[in-house]
Amino acid sequence: MKTMALPDSFLQDLHSRNPATDVISSYVNLKRAGRNMVGLCPFHNEKTPSFTVYGSTDSFYCFGCGAGGDVITFIRKIENLDYMEAVKFLAQRSGLQMPEDGYDDSLSRLRTRIFEANRAAAKFFHKFLYTPEGSVGLEYLRSRGLSEASIKHFGLGFAPKNTYALNKYLIECGFTEFELIQANLAFKSNRTNRLVDRFIDRVIYPMIDLRGNVVAFAGRTLNKDEKAKYINTSDTPVFKKSNNLFALNYAKNTKEKQIILVEGYMDVISLHQVGIENTVATMGTALTREHALILGKYADEIILCFDSDSAGQKATSRAIEILRDANIPIRIIRVPGNKDPDEFLNADKQNGASRFRLLIENSGNDIEYRLGLLRNGVDLSVASQKVAFLKEAAKMISNINNAVEVDVYVSKLCKELDVEKTAMVHLINQHRKKYYREEKKKFSQKIQSSDTRPDVVNPDRSRQLKAAKAEEALICFLFNHPDELKKICEKISPDDFITDFNRKVFLCVSERIKNGSGTSLFDISNEFSVEENSRISFIVNKNCGDLQYAFDCINVILSEKNKQQLKSESNPNDDDLLKYIDSIKKGKK
Ligand code: GTP
Ligand code: MN
Repeated sequence: MKTMALPDSFLQDLHSRNPATDVISSYVNLKRAGRNMVGLCPFHNEKTPSFTVYGSTDSFYCFGCGAGGDVITFIRKIENLDYMEAVKFLAQRSGLQMPEDGYDDSLSRLRTRIFEANRAAAKFFHKFLYTPEGSVGLEYLRSRGLSEASIKHFGLGFAPKNTYALNKYLIECGFTEFELIQANLAFKSNRTNRLVDRFIDRVIYPMIDLRGNVVAFAGRTLNKDEKAKYINTSDTPVFKKSNNLFALNYAKNTKEKQIILVEGYMDVISLHQVGIENTVATMGTALTREHALILGKYADEIILCFDSDSAGQKATSRAIEILRDANIPIRIIRVPGNKDPDEFLNADKQNGASRFRLLIENSGNDIEYRLGLLRNGVDLSVASQKVAFLKEAAKMISNINNAVEVDVYVSKLCKELDVEKTAMVHLINQHRKKYYREEKKKFSQKIQSSDTRPDVVNPDRSRQLKAAKAEEALICFLFNHPDELKKICEKISPDDFITDFNRKVFLCVSERIKNGSGTSLFDISNEFSVEENSRISFIVNKNCGDLQYAFDCINVILSEKNKQQLKSESNPNDDDLLKYIDSIKKGKK
């Protein structure tokens, strides 16, 4: 696909409005480390940060997985977009108008159309609630204790039994089949080849994003025989279930510093109804790292309040891990009587809300929660069980990084169980040491295994390591000192480069310097694939030497090239050999 060139002035504007640290920190929790910022890589799973954002080159690189590049490459990767889409994404993010001419804005047009279709659908579902056919839905919502105000506030609705009702209406409104399919409001039936509604005969919960757009729906069946109690909009160009939270549009405006995370839509709505509006839920999926990052932006603390069944307990443990990794303090509410929050509130209309607030106040943090789980069913009067429990507890506490916190739990436990504190501390330290040893081993294994991965970007690199490294150092120098290009070109030409990829980068950069174009990673981003950009980021974010060092590198490249030529000459075919002998003879004469 041919991409049209964007005007330099536009790109400059786009760049200055979208510094890498700025954009990336809305996806990654970054901490300052000297001149750079570091965090946990969003492109692979890790516990210790190897993801770095460089202020000086305005780019990122991960030593764990090798992802890297400028801010556009970051967006391409994380949002799964092509170059032009990523540029549009950043333009939109920073309130910049895309240049008028010639570029293809089909994606952003489609997104706008999906928002419009979703809004029209939400209105349609909501209105339908108040028709005779929709009254089952309205009755159901009322029977679950929802007020008229709550139904309006959340824009709840009902989807007709008729398989085509919504899409017929939306087509009449002027939406195309394609748009409705892209919005996941309808799909093409294989059997009849007709457009069929996605939500049929279900209570509808619309999902609103932080800008007030309707981005998705959840539909609950009222039919007990139906397999899926809830169905949700799949991922679309405007919706990713892994980074949207139901009711965050409301929860973010409350003055509370905490956000309560519950499992179900009804739990959210019931809590909001009684004034506990700092409550959100995921959209029918487990909590993800993206969710955690978003929550971390709006809350100082997350209160988990999942169901007490075994699925809910599992989800709690998993959520604790994810939130801990994102450095977000956690508390856990256990709702008594095996109820979910909605059932708890409805069981006691009078005092449900104040009793729930009491649960919030008395909620323990995740360590207490997990210690409680460990202690379940342990008979502390049996010595062997007590020892086993203490060992497990020590292992768990050893994961806490805060010394004061550790001391609090150790003191409390030791007092309760009547054991010496020093013994417990000793156990904890043993676990720490073991943990660090294992991490170190894992890290070196990671580095080794990354060395044996086939190098798709620069396949010659491993065979020509010495030359390739010299080429890379030279490229790095040129990036940092474009005004020395002339001196470099006097000594070496692109043809002298041994590895094709490095030659391509060198050519690109030197051509751009000659033309007076920019040579930052951002400027050249469009000329390379995501993987190539990653490699270039690796190359230019290294420490760069001075001009003398660049000359040394040139010498290495030239001498390696020479060696290569000699090698091929020492292994010539017969014709070449004869010519060679001939030339020597002639020379002697
Ligand atoms: P109500 O019965 O309406 O109160 O729902 P609930 O929230 O009590 O339901 P439950 O505890 O069974 O499920 C909690 C959450 O899990 C729901 O709000 C949904 O987000 C999700 N969920 C439940 N059932 C399904 C299902 O069949 N499919 C999908 N994708 N998600 C579901
Ligand atoms: Mn429920």
